[in-house]
Amino acid sequence: MDAAFAPLDTERLTLRPMTLDDAEDMAERRSDTTTAQYQAWKAPYSVERARDLITELLTRPGPTPGNWYQLAVERKRDGKVLGDVALFLSGNGRTAEVGFTLHPWARGHHYATEATARLVDYAVFDLGVHRIEACTHPHNIASVRVLERIGFLAEGIRREAYWVEDEVSDDAIYGLLAREWMSRRAQD
Ligand SMILES: CC(C)(COP(=O)(O)OP(=O)(O)OC[C@H]1O[C@@H](n2cnc3c(N)ncnc32)[C@H](O)[C@@H]1OP(=O)(O)O)[C@@H](O)C(=O)NCCC(=O)NCCS
Repeated sequence: MDAAFAPLDTERLTLRPMTLDDAEDMAERRSDTTTAQYQAWKAPYSVERARDLITELLTRPGPTPGNWYQLAVERKRDGKVLGDVALFLSGNGRTAEVGFTLHPWARGHHYATEATARLVDYAVFDLGVHRIEACTHPHNIASVRVLERIGFLAEGIRREAYWVEDEVSDDAIYGLLAREWMSRRAQD
């Protein structure tokens, strides 16, 4: 089934549903050790696994409660896929969690900030969520900077709460309320 999710635009980017043609690129990105370092999987990440994930996404029309939904981040000027952003909706749909991953060659241009801010916009204004959160390894400075630049506040650290297979690490929690985002937007 084709995804019915309408792409989200920013000045330089389009966030669009994934297709199976994105599988190889996603596997390459997720197999990079700097990408996987603070993420929920360990490198290497197989094309097969990427295909399974995308096949599952294609069964849904967009974010649905209790699931993660990944979108490809495509650069408008050359159509290149820079990475992906993801949104998780809580069971009651009131809270969303965001995540973001870029290819190493695409980092350092504030693309992650631009894409994630658009996802926050979508969650607040289209889905009507009350709160957005994000979790990251406390040492993942690039990720922390993306969140801070958007306006997320540090809410604390869950000690030794994040497991990837048999390794555990601390988990830094960041939160942004819909009303805070709306007042930031009103100042733009
Ligand atoms: C996190 C990630 C998406 C950020 O991408 P990016 O293109 O570097 O993001 P941006 O350019 O929007 O912003 C990065 C900010 O972090 C800063 N930064 C990046 N690496 C840094 C480092 N090692 N030390 C200090 N600051 C750093 C940049 O200078 C920039 O700061 P600024 O906003 O003050 O200019 C990217 O690094 C990535 O894909 N990492 C691997 C996957 C990952 O960890 N995802 C997050 C999981 S929670």
